[in-house]
Amino acid sequence: MGARPQIIKSAALTRAVTGGYSEQIKLLTLHTGQHYDNDMSAIFFEELGLPKPDIQFELSAKSHAAQTSAMMINAEQTFLAHRPDIVLVYGDTNSTLAAALAAYKLQIPVAHVEAGLRSDNLKMPEETNRIATDHLSTWLFTPNTQASERLAQEGILSEAKRPSLARPGIYSVGDVMYDNSLHYGSDYESGTELILATCHRPSNVDDSAQLGQVLKALLELGSPETPVLLPVHPRLEKHEALLSSYRNRPGLILSAPLSYLDMQHTLKRAKAVITDSGGLQKEAYYHEKPCLILRDETEWPELMENGSARLVNLGRDNLIEVLGNLTRSEHTYPQVYGSGDAANLICDVLVKTYSTC
Ligand code: UD1
Repeated sequence: MGARPQIIKSAALTRAVTGGYSEQIKLLTLHTGQHYDNDMSAIFFEELGLPKPDIQFELSAKSHAAQTSAMMINAEQTFLAHRPDIVLVYGDTNSTLAAALAAYKLQIPVAHVEAGLRSDNLKMPEETNRIATDHLSTWLFTPNTQASERLAQEGILSEAKRPSLARPGIYSVGDVMYDNSLHYGSDYESGTELILATCHRPSNVDDSAQLGQVLKALLELGSPETPVLLPVHPRLEKHEALLSSYRNRPGLILSAPLSYLDMQHTLKRAKAVITDSGGLQKEAYYHEKPCLILRDETEWPELMENGSARLVNLGRDNLIEVLGNLTRSEHTYPQVYGSGDAANLICDVLVKTYSTC
């Protein structure tokens, strides 16, 4: 783990291992140091009652190559020292790819949680990380059957394309974040209504004109009765001058990043969610909230099938109009990401199939 969402995902696996697999699985956790601020990392361990990582690295590198290669070197050192039987990675960040590649090169089989997702947008760094990690992985744990089909269509199991490591295959287990959402989810008092917004994708926030467009649209949308709450990801800090011109404006609240439980609480109160985060799109769905996705594509297309989520492009769409249309209709939220036992299924598969690889 290394980035914020991976710490949260790891909580589901830690629960499953300590709950029913502690005899068969010994878990050793490595934190790459990709996220290091208290409110991007440490707070999640405290709040979710997770033991501190067994191995914690610090990382100061910024560029993709510098970050990924530094994390690979650290991961390799750890793998050589501890000789794990399996390296399990989550999602699609640079931490995911670094650990998977380091393990693969040491011939340690890799388990990829959230395998098979594709945005088909190769400009996203995550898309490269997903594809590469899937091709390095022995166990491909997908959140739904669509992701499994996608992997099968890509021919990932064909002998020619599979890596040389022996391989158990594709397992549709569900989403570990759905496990978490059921586990931590529902006993919150609701509060005053708000609209929850987040944005941190390079395509939305690296260019100040684009970020300005997002902030302007959010300010127009919010009102004193139903304000927009925007927790600010540290990636936006370089735009502090722009951000400060949007602080203390009626209808728009800029806050520090939220903890996981505060986020669940806020989702409960939300009238709607506006986000470019893959994780939050799904959490909106789990909380049965309409969601506008501030992107041109999503790797979670099932969210849009029942109309509760839609893609929005601020260059083309008027946020007030689109959100008005979305919130006026009733939506259903069928269970499409498993049954809330993804982490247990992952442990079960690993225990039963490890001897075959
Ligand atoms: C990373 C992931 C992204 C994931 C997101 C979750 C990659 C390529 N991207 O994006 O998929 O959705 O995490 O949040 O791995 N920073 C801090 N403090 C921190 C963390 C980051 O100040 O604790 C700042 C640094 O200036 C850093 C910048 O934010 O350079 C971007 O961080 P980085 O981890 O490179 O990418 P994210 O945008 O967080």
